[in-house]
Amino acid sequence: MVYTRSRLIKEYLDFFKSKNHKEIPNVSLIPENDPTVLFTTAGMHPLVPFLLGQKHPLGERLCNVQKCIRTQDIEEVGDEVHHTFFEMLGNWSLGDYFKKEAIEYSFEFLTKVLKITKEKLAVTCFSGDKDAPKDTESEKTWQSLGIPKERIAFLPKENNWWGPAGKTGPCGPDTEMFYWKSNKPAPKKFDPDDKDWVEIWNDVLMQYVKDEKGNYVEAKQKNIDTGMGVERTIAVLNNLEDNYLTDAFLPIIKKIEKISNKKYNKDKEETRAIRIITDHIKASVMILGEGIEPSNKEQGYVLRRLIRRAIRYGKELGIEKGFTKNIAESVLEIYEDYLHLKQKKEFIFNELEKEEKRFKQTLNTGLKYFEKISRDKKEIQGKEAFLLYQSYGFPLEMILELAKEKKIKIDTEGFKKEFEKHQKLSRTATEGKFKSGLADNSEATKKLHTATHLLNEALRISLNKPDLIQKGSNITPERLRFDFNFDRKLTNEEIKKVEDLVNKKIRESLEVKRQEMTVDEAKKLGAQGVFEHKYGEKVSVYIINNFSKEICTGPHVKNTKEIGKFKIIKEEAVAAGIRRIKAVLE
Ligand code: ALA
Repeated sequence: MVYTRSRLIKEYLDFFKSKNHKEIPNVSLIPENDPTVLFTTAGMHPLVPFLLGQKHPLGERLCNVQKCIRTQDIEEVGDEVHHTFFEMLGNWSLGDYFKKEAIEYSFEFLTKVLKITKEKLAVTCFSGDKDAPKDTESEKTWQSLGIPKERIAFLPKENNWWGPAGKTGPCGPDTEMFYWKSNKPAPKKFDPDDKDWVEIWNDVLMQYVKDEKGNYVEAKQKNIDTGMGVERTIAVLNNLEDNYLTDAFLPIIKKIEKISNKKYNKDKEETRAIRIITDHIKASVMILGEGIEPSNKEQGYVLRRLIRRAIRYGKELGIEKGFTKNIAESVLEIYEDYLHLKQKKEFIFNELEKEEKRFKQTLNTGLKYFEKISRDKKEIQGKEAFLLYQSYGFPLEMILELAKEKKIKIDTEGFKKEFEKHQKLSRTATEGKFKSGLADNSEATKKLHTATHLLNEALRISLNKPDLIQKGSNITPERLRFDFNFDRKLTNEEIKKVEDLVNKKIRESLEVKRQEMTVDEAKKLGAQGVFEHKYGEKVSVYIINNFSKEICTGPHVKNTKEIGKFKIIKEEAVAAGIRRIKAVLE
C-alpha cells in the first residue's frame, strides 16, 4: 500500500502548516454546545461560532483531521464506498484567504504533494441561481492552473452548494475536485455522472448565511471550509476500487474472515455482510469511545442500532460465538493514535459484550416471530412490528430492512402509535435530530445557554459545594439539561434556592461579557470549564458581572434580563455521584 491513512493525514497537515495554518484538535464525536445534531458530521462543525465571526484563539488559518459520523445512509453501508464513521481532512480560512488561494492550495497539494497528474483531475463549480451568481471566478482560477475548460462542469445547488448543515448558518457554493480512478485514459471532457470520476475534495466558499426565513444573506465574513475524506482518498491513491481494502479497514476484514471462515471477495454474497460488520463495529467503538452506552435514545440508540445490525449480519455469516469484542480489537489497532480509545478499552469491550449477549437472547426467537407474522402477508401490522421492537429488541430500522428484503410493508403509522403509547421519546425525535442540523443560534438557545451558566454558579453557591462542576450539558430550544457531581437527591428547598438565585441574577440585568485570554489566565481568574484539550493558547471566557465566569464558545445573550423566568422541571440521578437538572424558561 503506497498511501496509508497516517501518511495522507501527515502530508495534509504538514502541507497546510507550511502555509501558516494551525492544527486544531480532533474533537469529540458528540458535539459540544450543539443540541440539534447527534454527531459531529464535518470538520467545520466545532467551528460554527468562528465561521460566524467570533475570533478563533488560534487565528484565521486552521487545519485538522476530524472524526465524523453520518447516519443518514446507514442502510447504504455494504457497498465499496459508504461508511458511517470516517475521517475528514480540512483546512479553513476564517475571513482570511478566499477562493483563489483556497483553490491554489488544493491544486498544489493534489499535484505537488500527492503527485496526481492534471490529466487525472476534473472539477465542478456552481452554476448560479437566484441566490448566488455563477461561479466564474473559481472557473478562471482552475483554468489559470491548467485545468482545461472541458474538465470544468457547472452544476446547480443540489450538487455544488454546501450547508448550512442545519436549518440556518454559514453556507455557500462549492467547487469539488474529482479524480479519474480507472486505468483507461481519462476522457478529455468531464462527465460528472461517469462513476470513474470520484470526488475527493470539496472547497466550500462560505460567503452566505442562511437565515430563519430561508434567505441567503451575504456573510460579513467570507470563509473557506474544505473537506477531504481520508478513506476515499487513500483508496484512489492506491488504485483501489474498494475503500475497505485500505489500511483503514483491512485488519478488520481479515479478522472477520478468520472468525467466520468466509472470504472477502467482491463477487461474493457475504462480502456485503463483512463490510456492514466492519463499518458498524468501527463506528460503535468510536461512539463507545465517547462514553456513550447503548440505549433507546439519541446517540445511544444509534449505537444500539449499529451493534445490533452488525450482530444480525454476523449471524448471516454463520458466526456462532460472541465476536464484536474481537473485531473491536482490530479497530483499536488501526486507530492506535486515538489515545482516548485506549483509555476506554475495557468500557468499550464490556459494553459490546453486554449488548451482544442481550440481543442474542432474543435475536433467534425474534427472527422466528418475524417469519411467522410475515408469512404470506403483504403488510405487517403496527402492533406486531412494535412487539418485535419492544420484546425482541429489534430496532425499527432493522424491522423495516427485514420487511424490505421480503418485499412486504410495515404499517409504520400503527407502529408509531404503539410506540408513542409506550414511550415519550420517539424515534422520530431522534431522527429529527440528525436531519436538522448544526449550531442552533436561535434566541431560545442563547437564553438557555446563558441560563446554564447562571445555574452552574447558583448550584455551587446554594449547595455550598465549591468543587461542584459541570459533567455534561445539552440544550434544545425547549429546555436545558445540566449534569453535575453531587451524591444525593436535592431537597425541594434546595431546588427552590437554586431557582431563586438564578432568577435573582436574571432580574439584576447583568451584562454578559466575552473576554479572550490564555488558558492560564482563565485558570487564574477562576473560570469554570474544561481546560484540557482546549484550542491551543487562548479561550473565550464569558463573564456575567461578578457572578459567573466560564469558558464557553457561546452563543449567549448580552444581558441576563433577556433570559425570562427560570424554572427547574426535573432533578434526577444519571450515574453514581452525578445528578441531572432539566430546566425551562417561561
Ligand atoms: N463541510 C464540507 C463537507 O462536509 C467541506 O463536505
